[in-house]
Amino acid sequence: MNRLRAVWLAVVLALTLMLSSGCEQAKQQEEKQSLRIGVSLYRGDDTFINNIRAELEKTAKAYEQETGVKIKLDVQEARGNQNTQNNQVERFISLGCDVLCVNMVDRTGASAIIEKAMTAGVPVIFFNRQPVDEDMDRWDQLYYVGVDPKESALLQGKIVVDLYRENPEALDLNGDGRISYVLLEGEPNHQDSMIRTEWSVQTLKDGGLPIEKIAGGIANWERSQASAMMEQWLEKYPGPVELVISNNDDMALGAIDTLDRKGITSVCVVGIDGTAPGLEAVKAGKMCGTVSSDKEQYARAIFSMAVDKAMGQDIRPELELENGKYYRCPQAIIR
Ligand code: BGC
Repeated sequence: MNRLRAVWLAVVLALTLMLSSGCEQAKQQEEKQSLRIGVSLYRGDDTFINNIRAELEKTAKAYEQETGVKIKLDVQEARGNQNTQNNQVERFISLGCDVLCVNMVDRTGASAIIEKAMTAGVPVIFFNRQPVDEDMDRWDQLYYVGVDPKESALLQGKIVVDLYRENPEALDLNGDGRISYVLLEGEPNHQDSMIRTEWSVQTLKDGGLPIEKIAGGIANWERSQASAMMEQWLEKYPGPVELVISNNDDMALGAIDTLDRKGITSVCVVGIDGTAPGLEAVKAGKMCGTVSSDKEQYARAIFSMAVDKAMGQDIRPELELENGKYYRCPQAIIR
């Protein structure tokens, strides 16, 4: 009798477990019909980041229409404040976000966000502002999407080297056998400004161009700061500036604003990004070239990685992640 009771109990227990795991699965299936993605931007007024944001929103809409899966894309701006961003991440987690996409304010300070995400088991796709390797290696659910800054610089350098080979007078405006250049740098701690600065100049040297640096300075990616800096340089150094190398398009456009105001048209200005206004300036002949990252592909990579992770799946293999976690967006010369 006792044995019979034990068998019954075992059967009832097994059935209960099967039913409850069935419910769990059904719940997961149901959840997969709607995904919540928390996106935090370091600032909302950065031209490049805004281009990516617009593409991300477009991609999410298209995915919703194609698949019927509801996407709640919650985009917040951290206004350059790391504490604000940490709070945004906390809120995303408490709202039940399935995945986070974070454009760090301070890329060296990702550990607080990583801690919170790890504790809650929510994967993170960082983008554009790359956390240090030590942080990226803390968990296997951390990913990064960005451009390869060395490639941006090599391509930017190539624009200038090619121009010089085609027509040296287009760069050596006063014919003194030297190309006098100024260099506009982005934020000092940003991986893109450090590596771009080093490698664009190196590419010109490697190409055998007779370059001479007049001045250089940090304009923090910003058009107005670059414009003011250019103004000062033109006043301080009366010898002609023949080339402006800029770490991004917005600062290149700032330099052009000043050149325009002074009625100077012959200076070659090169940028990086291929933002909408940057591409327009190239088309209008105001900028001699830029290195454009494929914004659509950039956003698609962030979004598909986010969806894969939110669905509890592996990242799709066609993204060919470097070391299983880094995606580098393709770039091309526009001139
Ligand atoms: C872009 C800049 C942008 C910065 C923001 C860089 O990769 O080239 O235009 O301001 O990222 O983090």
